[in-house]
Amino acid sequence: METPNLALVGFMASGKSTVGRLCAERLGFAFVDTDVLIERRAGCSVREVFAAQGESAFREMETEAVAEAVGRNRVVIASGGGAVLRAENVELLRERCVVVYLRVEVGAVMARTEGDTSRPLLARGEEAARQTAALLESRDPYYRAAAHAIVDSGKSDPVTTADRVLSVYGLHAARRAPSAERAS
Ligand code: S3P
Repeated sequence: METPNLALVGFMASGKSTVGRLCAERLGFAFVDTDVLIERRAGCSVREVFAAQGESAFREMETEAVAEAVGRNRVVIASGGGAVLRAENVELLRERCVVVYLRVEVGAVMARTEGDTSRPLLARGEEAARQTAALLESRDPYYRAAAHAIVDSGKSDPVTTADRVLSVYGLHAARRAPSAERAS
């Protein structure tokens, strides 16, 4: 049985990249960010992909990026905040990875994204907090359904969050091994 990959899912600014990098270092795995794979392939930023080609083209590229990422061995994957909206992506992630939902509250998202212009789906202006809360609430069930485990990421520093993620990863990775052997 291969060592499963680790995939982080969660809302924008939940810490997927920061915590993912720390986890990758500790596991001795490579770190892959699906947004970075998309940017490399498109030759421009996520914001520019949205502006020039629209969200549905971005979502197509995202599925390709997820498939590419999960096809690697010994990687920690930070998936884009909307990747869980497609059942196909969730299936790919769950099959090849222990999937951890980094849960965050709207206050932390607002604080962490102040002045951020890189995320096209991030609300701006007076209604930003209310709109972000609504999007977060609508996404939460998708993150929960995709994940093998949930770790709160809003109130702790990234190192503490990474410790928690690694401990649930360890538990789930150990549990997967015998059942996969039975199945083969
Ligand atoms: C998105 C989240 C972004 C990026 C794109 C769309 C979303 O990734 O994929 O802007 O739909 O929530 P991060 O979660 O890394 O910000």
